[in-house]
Amino acid sequence: MSDDKIESILEETRRFPPNADYAKGSYVKSIDEYKAIYEESIADPPAFWANLATNLEWFSPWDTVFEWDRDEARFSWFKGGKLNACYNCLDRHVNSPRRNKAAIIWQGEREDAMKVYTYQQLLSEVERFANVLKSKGVGKGDRVSIYLPMIPELAISLLACARIGAIHSVVFAGFSSEALYNRIEDCDSKILITSDGTYRAGKTIDLKGKADEALEKSKSVTSVIMVNNTGSEVSMTAGRDFWWHEEVENADLTCPCEEMDAEDTLFILYTSGSTGKPKGVVHTTGGYLLFTMETFKNVFDYKEEDVFWCTADLGWITGHSYILYGPLAAGATSVMFEGVPTYPKPDRYWHIVEKFRVNTFYTAPTAIRSMMRLGDEWPNGRDLSSLKVLGSVGEPINPEAWMWYYNVIGHGNCAILDTWWQTETGGHMITPLPGATTLKPGSATFPYFGIEPKIIKNENEECAANEGGFLCIDKPWPGLGRTLWGDHERYKTTYWNNIKGKYFSGDGARRDEEGYIWLLGRVDDVISVAGHRIGAAEVESALVSHTDVTEAAVVPVPHDIKGEAIYAFVTLREGLEGDDDLRKALVKHVRHEVGPIATPGAIQFTDMMPKTRSGKIMRRILRKIASGDTPESLGDTSTLADPEVIDLLIANRVKQ
Ligand code: WT7
Repeated sequence: MSDDKIESILEETRRFPPNADYAKGSYVKSIDEYKAIYEESIADPPAFWANLATNLEWFSPWDTVFEWDRDEARFSWFKGGKLNACYNCLDRHVNSPRRNKAAIIWQGEREDAMKVYTYQQLLSEVERFANVLKSKGVGKGDRVSIYLPMIPELAISLLACARIGAIHSVVFAGFSSEALYNRIEDCDSKILITSDGTYRAGKTIDLKGKADEALEKSKSVTSVIMVNNTGSEVSMTAGRDFWWHEEVENADLTCPCEEMDAEDTLFILYTSGSTGKPKGVVHTTGGYLLFTMETFKNVFDYKEEDVFWCTADLGWITGHSYILYGPLAAGATSVMFEGVPTYPKPDRYWHIVEKFRVNTFYTAPTAIRSMMRLGDEWPNGRDLSSLKVLGSVGEPINPEAWMWYYNVIGHGNCAILDTWWQTETGGHMITPLPGATTLKPGSATFPYFGIEPKIIKNENEECAANEGGFLCIDKPWPGLGRTLWGDHERYKTTYWNNIKGKYFSGDGARRDEEGYIWLLGRVDDVISVAGHRIGAAEVESALVSHTDVTEAAVVPVPHDIKGEAIYAFVTLREGLEGDDDLRKALVKHVRHEVGPIATPGAIQFTDMMPKTRSGKIMRRILRKIASGDTPESLGDTSTLADPEVIDLLIANRVKQ
């Protein structure tokens, strides 16, 4: 790893203060109030979190708030305290006036498929299914793999595991059988919960076949529970495979909660990283639940009667933290959507916002850019006036997309929350607060309470204002993953050994003179041009700010003189064709926006980018394509959403 700082050249001067009327009713009403709470939280984090932990219900109190062994990268929050995550998400609301409040509003891919679960109804479903798991021999500490589409049974499965102390490991239903197999084997799951199939844009896609392929090799799974979702023909293995609906039919109605230690594992979630075997991030019961509940309430400024919608899949951490655990622990109403943004028409998201009068909408920049590309007539045709707060997560949101989100979706009335965090961090780390923060498009702004970001260069030196460096976090916080399943050594070396005593995020960032934090992308994506280290995110943002461009990815290619040169992949607005004139115009635009040092040496137009299933561009693959590598050398492409894109990209490679 190089010690050099990352240069940051992009300048953004627009400012959006919070709406004064809105701020009056929000939890954190001004930047001064934010600063006061922040200072207090940082002065004594254990005292700060211990105070908030009383917002959860505990069966018995903790022995110690926080312990940390730096050398071993081991720490605990609320050790000895006993609680249950499912109890905190359901039972305690059922024992309150929220009993008949909608907990989950589920919208199926078909418009007429819709289910509303009150807290009481959800609890009843969870208790029965928890008994089914028990009847298959699942107990405290056992692993349960879940491979389901975005149907209510997915949420019910997670909560049922939490109820009996089993550890869930959700595998996104878009993953291949190989990916599923690896994730089952790594944590030795006893049970797999899956379904016959799933719907995607009007088509039925087989899941059970993929599950069967994975199970052929697996030695650990003894029972499979199958949801009858699409009604497709499937083969059932006698003695191993059981139908969900038949099992719950015969199950007892009530199931007591297991008393869990705050430090007991709640779930494992695999994150692929750019190379190597997937990492099973381990999240615990007390700290994770507290962190997701608190960030959910304060960041989204959730009020009792609000309807909250996070569009992520429950197969990702965003779904775990902000469809399920955070919202339900806070007693919220959470929308869960089975379909895709563009089916049956490109206004599906806006239709759902209109239908349920959604107040808070949380999505990813890739979705925002693709909807921007489809034209304003789609959102303009729907009533979006219920929206109060708009969130973004997953990658840097470039100012162009930010402005579109603000104007076309929010009509200038909604705060845009650019929330930076990771699978490992459990919840929001750097984010605006809607009533307090003056926004700058493209900046994730300030740290959440109790979080101390440090931007580091030269081993352990803090960067000056506007100097880009490695984004690290001082000291563990309650929501941080405790280890990687079965590989604590890898946890230590990946996150704690790079910068002494600090959590290493792997992202680059800079803090401006007013303390705003700007993310510069993964440090592996930094391009070194003639001795200048440039973050890919900034050049991409400049490209996307050109009116003809909707998506851009830049990667380094070897260059005799400069060391590395910039190669750009660019997707144009629907209906436009790229030519040399446009190439010249884009080069000129980037030189103007970022500076001559960031001039792309080559620009390749493409209608599609190689993306992971969660919508992240796989720059690792683009780098190899740009450098002229053979298709065979591209490495693992099995997690790509659209593998066909590779051949097209190779065929259309351009010379520098
Ligand atoms: C990586 C984490 C956190 C849930 C979804 C992704 C990038 C995430 C932002 C943001 C700039 C962002 C980072 C981070 N990222 N949010 N607001 N601005 N970059 O979880 O798959 O673990 O990915 O996503 O590079 O390290 P994940």
